[in-house]
This record gives sequence, structure tokens and C-alpha cells, in this order.
Amino acid sequence: MKQATRHIALSAPWIDERDEELVLETLRSGWLSLGPTGPRFEELVADAVGARYCAGVSSGTAALHLSMRLVGVEPGDEVITSPYSFVASANCAIYEGATPVFADIDPSTLNLDPAAVEAAVTERTKAIVAVDIFGYPCELDSLLDICERHGLRLVEDACEALGARYKGRPLGSHGHPATFAFYPNKQITTGEGGAITTNDENEHELLVSLRNQGRLETSSWLMHGRLGYNYRLDDVSAALGIGQVERLDSILAARAAVAARYAELLTGVDVDPPLADDDNHVRSWFVYVVKLPEGADRDGVMQRMADRGVATAPYLPSIHLQSYMRERYGFREGMLPVSEDASARTMALPFHARLGDDEQDYVVETLRAVL
Ligand SMILES: Cc1ncc(COP(=O)(O)O)c(C=O)c1O
Repeated sequence: MKQATRHIALSAPWIDERDEELVLETLRSGWLSLGPTGPRFEELVADAVGARYCAGVSSGTAALHLSMRLVGVEPGDEVITSPYSFVASANCAIYEGATPVFADIDPSTLNLDPAAVEAAVTERTKAIVAVDIFGYPCELDSLLDICERHGLRLVEDACEALGARYKGRPLGSHGHPATFAFYPNKQITTGEGGAITTNDENEHELLVSLRNQGRLETSSWLMHGRLGYNYRLDDVSAALGIGQVERLDSILAARAAVAARYAELLTGVDVDPPLADDDNHVRSWFVYVVKLPEGADRDGVMQRMADRGVATAPYLPSIHLQSYMRERYGFREGMLPVSEDASARTMALPFHARLGDDEQDYVVETLRAVL
């Protein structure tokens, strides 16, 4: 095969002049961490998602880890989550000595199936980590109902879903802790970074202490009231985040337009497009994932796309079949058939706010040809 003449990347951040100015301003201020920029960013994120409080942290993974501490997950507990997610959704429970328990997903939403969650509840279950995969809101009301009936806490892994809406209200505004992530492939980026939103002042104070080495609000710099971490979001990253979140609406609209154009171009191509929105679920576009027909050689398709200069990714492998999970817990194929089937057939296409029309045309032409 000859060398591809073009390369279309899977994702790309959208950085503009205002972002650059804000970062430069913070650099020149000399206040690179624990300055005034972090709280400004946090306020904007809280406003954007309709939450009372937002704690910025160093990554989405840090946000998930702290939310385990927040809801009191301890050694010996079980935490139910989705196998069809990024590993951090399950790792956060392991960090606290708890056991991740996977419930299967719904084949159309690719999010947790509430009936499977209910069936997975035991006396040891402490919490549910519900993921909004690919920016599509999970079944919050059913999951909250399960939590209420069994005395569990819900943590929402909205790391891929900033700006999505469930029953008309943004994710993050529904009362329980929600986590967000700002890696460069996300809707908005801070380089590395994340956040936890809550509506409870005490919970927010605990998060602020935990991310800053367990310092108490009243204690001096070298006095620590609890076991904490350095999960702070620095001010340079937060400055970039301010520029990004200021134009969240236009970024989301641009991503939605690219997704809508993919849906049109893919008419007649033998793949299932992502699930469309309905009255209760409005997606925030994170990645554009198609499902190949049963029996398709997905890895071969990806290789032939790569040969023609189009990056794709096998979004997402099932977490329970990752090697460390098999070794640690004895998980194996066949345990979670819906997730495993999705993992074998789903594939992310190049997707970001400024993907050009000609690039999109080329991606779809290439996919049609290699299929
Ligand atoms: C669903 C989900 N949860 C958690 C994370 C972790 O975020 P980070 O990479 O910022 O640690 C990600 C990031 O890709 C994610 O997609």
C-alpha cells in the first residue's frame, strides 16, 4: 500500500486567541496555582451545568477518585458501574479498596441498563458510578430510584458529557455529585483537568480539602486534617478553561453540526449511526461512534482506514476484559454480552468542532470503500 497522502486525526482541541491571551495573562501574573483563576473557572463551570458548587481538579480520574471518598466508599464495598466505559469509571472504586461490579448496558444507548444494575445490587453495594457514554445521558431517574430503594449513592461520570441534558436539565444540575473531564479530546479542554459538581456546601468543602492534601479551611499551610491528595487544577490550566467554557455553546453547536453532517453522509453506508436524541436525552457530542454490522472485521476496517490516512479508534473495549481486570477478578468473555458485542463492533471516526467538510467527505468515502 502506498503512503497515504493525507492524515485526518481522530480529535483536535479548538484553541483561539482569547484562550492564548488568558493563559499569557495568568503566566505573567506569576500566580500559577491556588490563585484567583481557578475559582473563576469553577464558577463558570458551575453556571454552565446548573450546579451550586464546582471543584476543579487535575483530571477526570482525580474527580472520580475524590467522589468515591465523598460518598464514603471503603475497603470491602462494591461499586456498580458500566463495563462499556473508560477504565477510570471502575478504577476509582479500586483505589479505595472497593470491588468494581459491572452491570450490562442497553444496546441502543450503550449506557447502564437499570434492570441489570438492580440485579447486581448486594448487601455490600455502596454506590453506583453511572457513565454518560459518548455524551449521551444515562437513565438518571431509574438509577436514582434504585439508589433510594437500596440506600446507595449515585456518582455520575459525566466526563464525556459536559453540556448534555437529561429531562431538560444539564447533567450536573440533578443534585448528586457529577464528574467532568477536560483532556484535549473533550468538548472543552484545560490540557489535563477535571471537575466535580455538587449542590451541597459541606460536600464541596470536603472536596476542596481532599484535592489540596487534606488541608482544612481553617488550618495553616502545613497542617493537615485528613488524608488528602495533590489533585489541584493549576491556574494556567484554569485560564485556558475560562476561554473554553466562555464559548461552550458555540463549541457544542459546532460539534453538533459536524455530527449532523456525518449522519447525512452515512445514509446508505452499512453502519449504525449513534443514537438520536429524544425528549429526555440531549447528547453533548464527544466522539462520533458507529457500529459495524455483525461479523464485520472491525480491526481490519480500522487498519484499511489508517492505510488511507484516516485515524479511527476501537471505542470502547469492555473494562472487565482488560488484562489487569481478568487477572485481578477472574472476569472472562461472556459475562456481559451486550457490552462485549458493542466493544467488538463500535469504532470512532475522526471528530472535532472544526473538522472540515472535505475531511468528512473523505472519511465517509473511505469508510464506504473499505467496507
Ligand atoms: C467516561 C470517562 N471517565 C473518566 C475519564 C477520565 O478522565 P481523565 O482522562 O481526565 O482522567 C474519561 C476520560 O477519557 C472518560 O471518558
